[in-house]
Amino acid sequence: MGLGDEADGNVNGPMHSSALCSGAMSSATELGWAENSGVAFQKLTASVKRALAGRPPPVRIIEAGCGRRWALGDLGTEIHVTGIDLDPEALRLRVEQRKDLDVAIHGDLMDVELPAGGYDMVFSSWVLEHLEHPDTALDRFFSWLHPGGLVVVIFPDRNTAKGFATRMSPFFVHVWYYRWLLGRPTAGKPGYEPYPTHYGHVVGRKGIAEYCRRHGYRVLDEIAVRVDRSDVGRLTRAVSKVIGWLSFGKLDGEYCDLAIVLQRP
Ligand SMILES: C[S@@+](CC[C@H](N)C(=O)[O-])C[C@H]1O[C@@H](n2cnc3c(N)ncnc32)[C@H](O)[C@@H]1O
Repeated sequence: MGLGDEADGNVNGPMHSSALCSGAMSSATELGWAENSGVAFQKLTASVKRALAGRPPPVRIIEAGCGRRWALGDLGTEIHVTGIDLDPEALRLRVEQRKDLDVAIHGDLMDVELPAGGYDMVFSSWVLEHLEHPDTALDRFFSWLHPGGLVVVIFPDRNTAKGFATRMSPFFVHVWYYRWLLGRPTAGKPGYEPYPTHYGHVVGRKGIAEYCRRHGYRVLDEIAVRVDRSDVGRLTRAVSKVIGWLSFGKLDGEYCDLAIVLQRP
């Protein structure tokens, strides 16, 4: 998760965005838009349901960096979820409070041992930006899938104004931002975001498009999440727009996160 990504909302609609157009995916997938992260998860859930249609239950899912909550909605089929997380406190809270994991693994995504080709889907929300080698993590995600399996990820795009501001600021500023601007007193305590970020090259629309091209993975859906005050407050929204203008379109100030559904051939 970048600086303050978590909310509910209800509107959506298309809009032009210069940086997004310049970094467009090579596939024919049309970019969708969500007004905020709540709407993005609703749309992502609908997209995943379509992509999973017809698969025999239970649909076997790995939730990579599962944290304290399941961010998608009801997938309308029986699911078997294996959650993996490095933060023992986040995992404990997930197991004890949500009680929605079938298997909970305390471990590192970069070396956890899982059966190759054993799963229908890997879901990972706001985790790739925290990994030193997100491309290797994606390689691992795809290796866990059987042919036709899905990787569903949401991450803050490093080439947006908000992504840039997060990359350029030290970690203590992120904690401060969560605590004092977003009003989350537990921020930075065990089990609670923010977590340190790395923002590797693949953590952006351009980078993930290149990654998919290189490996021959299909992009089934992609949704850009607008910088909305319900997620990040008015101030961040305004600052994001100003940085976008000052960058002459190099950094996109309109959106922050990208949600995508990828498929292994
Ligand atoms: C910002 S939180 C997102 C949590 C949850 N997916 C959500 O959407 O609310 C990032 C999560 O990734 C986990 N994480 C970061 N690096 C990890 C790694 N190498 N292996 C496993 N989990 C990791 C953190 O412990 C944390 O729970």
